[in-house]
Amino acid sequence: MQVGVFVPINNNGWLISENAPQYMPSFDLNKEIALRAEKYGLDFLLSMIKLRGFGGKTEFWEYGLESFTLMAGLAAVTERIKIYATCPTLAIPPAFAARMCNTIDSISHGRFGLNLITGWQRPEYSQMGLWPGDEHFRNRYQMLDEYAHILRELWETGRSDYKGRYYQMDDCLVRPTPTGEMKIICAGSSDEGLAFSAKWADYAFCLGKGVNTPKAFAFNNERLAGALEKTGRDVQVFVLIMLIMAETDEEAEAKWKSYNDGVDIDAIRWLIDQGAADKHNATTNVRQLAAPEGAVNINMGTLVGSHAKIAAMLDEMAEVPNTGGVLLTFDDFVQGVEDFGTKVQPLMKSRAVR
Ligand SMILES: Cc1cc2nc3c(=O)[nH]c(=O)nc-3n(C[C@H](O)[C@H](O)[C@H](O)COP(=O)(O)O)c2cc1C
Repeated sequence: MQVGVFVPINNNGWLISENAPQYMPSFDLNKEIALRAEKYGLDFLLSMIKLRGFGGKTEFWEYGLESFTLMAGLAAVTERIKIYATCPTLAIPPAFAARMCNTIDSISHGRFGLNLITGWQRPEYSQMGLWPGDEHFRNRYQMLDEYAHILRELWETGRSDYKGRYYQMDDCLVRPTPTGEMKIICAGSSDEGLAFSAKWADYAFCLGKGVNTPKAFAFNNERLAGALEKTGRDVQVFVLIMLIMAETDEEAEAKWKSYNDGVDIDAIRWLIDQGAADKHNATTNVRQLAAPEGAVNINMGTLVGSHAKIAAMLDEMAEVPNTGGVLLTFDDFVQGVEDFGTKVQPLMKSRAVR
């Protein structure tokens, strides 16, 4: 099973709590995390892009870096680990994105790939005059389909003359083409999102589910399998999960309780409003983000316990058919990657052959 780190590109990572570590994102912090991840043989780094925070006392995600430029920096200071940026497709035209990818392919010597997002939070884009109207909730994967078509064409041939509803190329040239195999990630879990992944993506990322219920995400794999039957492609599932670790289960549980006790209610309220905005799509996973039971970490799925317990639960995740890997987050990323590398990974059967 592959292991990656969802690097903290915005303030406070993924814990919306006054009792969690409070920190700003910086290149230096992310570099420290990247170097440790590489040192322990982890497989990849991914950064998200978020352009508007949730407010509240913790000013959650109100401070954020930009994904391509952060990952270009991390590509320059690492040697082996794979590097993925997230592309806000509403903000960056496809031919421009292709050229940025080719640049980071050059910096990383073929280690770069891209997470494509449609955008689902209106204020991120309307604040810049880039929200196409609420019909975007209905059209977003049609637009992304055209986007992916152009990217693939430009990466493979260096040229596109594609004429679509949303994008028109006119003998567009983007060279040199990448040296590495450019992989595409999509993290949509709606029916349309999974259909997109089945057609274009190499990896389908999903949210984990529940606390210490490591296999509860398996329904995502089954839904993706249905979409893959139509395209005949091979796309693996990668699961986003938070690790809350300590020497003993009791210590880890105490930390988790404290984070929950300090939940930033005002920030969560904003998230709930955002999650409800898409009236079109009943299968979107943005509802899960704000569900009350685990909103403190956007319900991403959480493993809480001693290092041995966490290792055993990660091994259970690896047993779910067609699981390619996990994307890890931590309360404290530097210590978390260190502890994962020295205390968890050595106990994992699914990481024995690396
Ligand atoms: C691992 C992971 C990474 C994501 N990264 C981003 C991101 O960087 N920016 C963003 O706006 N949405 C991000 N999302 C949200 C999805 O890309 C997608 O927009 C959202 O799940 C709604 O799509 P759906 O309706 O198809 O489920 C991410 C989701 C997951 C699980």
